[in-house]
Amino acid sequence: MGESVLMKVWRGDASGGDFQDFRVQAEEGEVVLDVLHRIQAEQANDLAIRWNCKAGKCGSCSAEVNGHPRLTCMARMSELDVAEPITISPMRTFPIVKDLVTDVAFNYEVARRVPAFSPRPKDPVTESDGRYRMQQMDIERVQEFRKCIECFLCQNVCHVIRDHPDNAPHFAGPRFFIRYAELEMHPLDTNDRTRMLQEKMGLGYCNITKCCTEVCPEGIHITDNGIIPLKERVITTKYDPYTRLRDRMRERRRKRELDDLPERTRRRKLRGLNASEGEPG
Ligand code: SF4
Ligand code: SF4
Ligand code: FES
Repeated sequence: MGESVLMKVWRGDASGGDFQDFRVQAEEGEVVLDVLHRIQAEQANDLAIRWNCKAGKCGSCSAEVNGHPRLTCMARMSELDVAEPITISPMRTFPIVKDLVTDVAFNYEVARRVPAFSPRPKDPVTESDGRYRMQQMDIERVQEFRKCIECFLCQNVCHVIRDHPDNAPHFAGPRFFIRYAELEMHPLDTNDRTRMLQEKMGLGYCNITKCCTEVCPEGIHITDNGIIPLKERVITTKYDPYTRLRDRMRERRRKRELDDLPERTRRRKLRGLNASEGEPG
């Protein structure tokens, strides 16, 4: 048996907007996205909504339901108090395109700056990595982070950019901290991204409030399993005397190797190194 619900849906574009009221029927078992589709079909054909799978897997339908960041296709109407008006607004952290659709391009720019997986060289004798036995623990640790569906709800809720947009160019955000963690914790990866995390990706801005973890629809322990271990690695890189000595020796060797190269090759290599350290474009 359906119920009549008052939905207050934000409508507008980059120049401004406001909530618009829609009295609509919600049927048993429906989610917020179903009700938005009914509004679109019956009352506002031009209502802009982004969605794809309606199964909590594509990460497209993110919005704020009664002020809480949610996937609208996973937010059940039965969880909400339908006696009160229900507000639906776009993610606040990202620029508005139209109605509930936001421009999440910022996230793709951050993604481009993550230095790629860099496997260690093949074993010179066997020409393969077959000698290495990966532990189940290693697999589970990185697989948790691979569950991310890029809904960007964690990016949306993080106060470092939500309340201070000026931080955005220097802050990767929780979604990308777990991408860094995934690479850093991979047993075959050789890149060291800890300095970059500290100096260019704003890991230090995160004060472990765990808001990102609370909104993640995939239940990823972003803070406990990703951000905190990364912070520990950053401290090790910066203050552990052995690590500092190792880094200094590596730096000296790299400089020597570069100095021995012809000028054009040297410049090309330098450009490659800057890219691997996350310098934009
Ligand atoms: S724990 Fe850190 S990254 Fe997550 S929301 Fe809080 S400040 Fe942002
Ligand atoms: S970590 Fe969770 S909340 Fe953040 S983008 Fe991935 S799935 Fe969404
Ligand atoms: S429509 Fe794909 S996650 Fe909601």
